[in-house]
Amino acid sequence: MKTLFVVSGGDAPGINNVLGNYVRLASQNGDTVLGAQGGFPGLLDNQIVPLTYDTLIPWMGRGGSLLASSRDPVLNQTEAGERIRAILRENEVDNIVLFGGNGTLRYIPPLLRNWGIPCIGLPTTIDNDVPGTEMTLGFDSACNFTYHAIDGAMATAHALRGRIFLVETLGGTCGNLALAVAHGADAHAVILPEYEYEDSWLSERVSAVLKRDGYALVVICEGSRGARTLADDIAKWTGIRVRDVRLGHAQRGGIASHRDRVLAAHMARTAYTALKNGVQTGITVVQSGKVTLYESLLPQAAIMPDQALYQEINNIS
Ligand code: F6P
Repeated sequence: MKTLFVVSGGDAPGINNVLGNYVRLASQNGDTVLGAQGGFPGLLDNQIVPLTYDTLIPWMGRGGSLLASSRDPVLNQTEAGERIRAILRENEVDNIVLFGGNGTLRYIPPLLRNWGIPCIGLPTTIDNDVPGTEMTLGFDSACNFTYHAIDGAMATAHALRGRIFLVETLGGTCGNLALAVAHGADAHAVILPEYEYEDSWLSERVSAVLKRDGYALVVICEGSRGARTLADDIAKWTGIRVRDVRLGHAQRGGIASHRDRVLAAHMARTAYTALKNGVQTGITVVQSGKVTLYESLLPQAAIMPDQALYQEINNIS
């Protein structure tokens, strides 16, 4: 069996571990693994490289991806399907393993299925916004990265009382990542794109916790009102200077956590076994904490951050 790996969309910690685990499994069984350099634009350009375990060893655990990705929607082009089929034939590829987040997994597997190309999708994004799975690859590492940043700020919260801290996470328009770290870091407030709030409420909440705890920690998801504007507003309301910590891509590129490395190992085995068994279309999902194969296209469900948890953190009844 010859498998081609393609990375599409944002990179995430754990991708290199999947590559390493899959390549080791495949080579032990006499199978071959290739990778497209530069996502689907790279594939359309026949940028295909062999993947060997030796090459992957130094990459295991590192953030990002040995195989470059792309966000260019090149599969809309007419003839894209024909061209991909021809390139796969030329390279004697039997099937594809696709890394991607919500956008990629909604859009690309249906196309590949129409073109008769077997594909297993691996939900890979720090955003944890893929329907049907409890946990995407990279999410846990991104949470851990955030705790390092917040713990640093908390040292000052203890040493210099009366400060307000605003930490902005990635996550796009999905608040799952911000909500999870706000919970884990015991933040006083969390601002998410999915839920509206009144300025007067936030102003009162920050002032009250400052008085009670001697500091205030607010976590905001990048897809809500920008952290910079909010920092200025909170400073205006309270008369206290607010420094905003914007984690940006640093949050996405950190080392893979233990949990993500284990998830990566299970994803690799599940995808490999499915393809060996002739599965044509599927996604690896985590259900009740276990990695299994969902033998279909991605369910088209909406993802909403847990409202009860949002209310609990924000002390809203
Ligand atoms: O991959 C998901 C994500 O990291 C989001 O959290 C973020 O909004 C987006 O990608 C950033 O994308 P880019 O790297 O293209 O700026």
